[in-house]
Amino acid sequence: MVLRKHITLIGFMGAGKSTLGAQLAGVLGLAFIDLDKEVEASAGMTIREIFGGKGESYFRELERKVMADLLSREEPAVIALGGGTPCFFDNIDFINKHSHSIYLKCSPETLLLRLKNDRKERPLLAEKTQDELLGYIRAKLEEREGFYQMACWTVES
Ligand code: S3P
Repeated sequence: MVLRKHITLIGFMGAGKSTLGAQLAGVLGLAFIDLDKEVEASAGMTIREIFGGKGESYFRELERKVMADLLSREEPAVIALGGGTPCFFDNIDFINKHSHSIYLKCSPETLLLRLKNDRKERPLLAEKTQDELLGYIRAKLEEREGFYQMACWTVES
C-alpha cells in the first residue's frame, strides 16, 4: 500500500497519542513526529515556559503554524498532535484535508489514571488538585469531544 497522506493522532492529553503514534510509525515504516516537541523546538522553550511566559493564545497561534507546516510536508509521516490542536481555529478541517486522522477515545476515568501522576509538564493540569482533576477532565472532554469526533477514524481504548 502506498500512503499518500499523513496519519494524525488526536485526542485528550493522556490518550496515548505519542506512545501509539511511535509504535504505528514503526510498524508502517514511516517517520514519527510529535507536534508538542516541534512547537518547543520552534520556540526554543518548553510548552510550560510558552504558556507561562507568553500565554495560551500565543501557544495556539504557534501550534497552528507548526502543525500547518508539518502537514504541508510531502513525505507522509505519523504525527501526534496536541490535545487541544483540533479544537482551535479551523484546525480540524485542515487536519482532515491533509491527513487520515484517528481519534484515540478514552473515558475520563482512564485519562485520570494516566494523568494524575503525569501533569507537571502540562500547563492546563499542573495547578489542579487531585480532587479537581476528574471534574476538569470531564468538562474539558465534553467541550472538545465534538472536534475529536470529526476525525476520520475513532479507536476506543
Ligand atoms: C494541551 C495538550 C498538550 C500540549 C499543551 C496543551 C491541550 O499535549 O499541547 O499542554 O490543550 O490539551 P498532549 O495532549 O500531548 O499532552
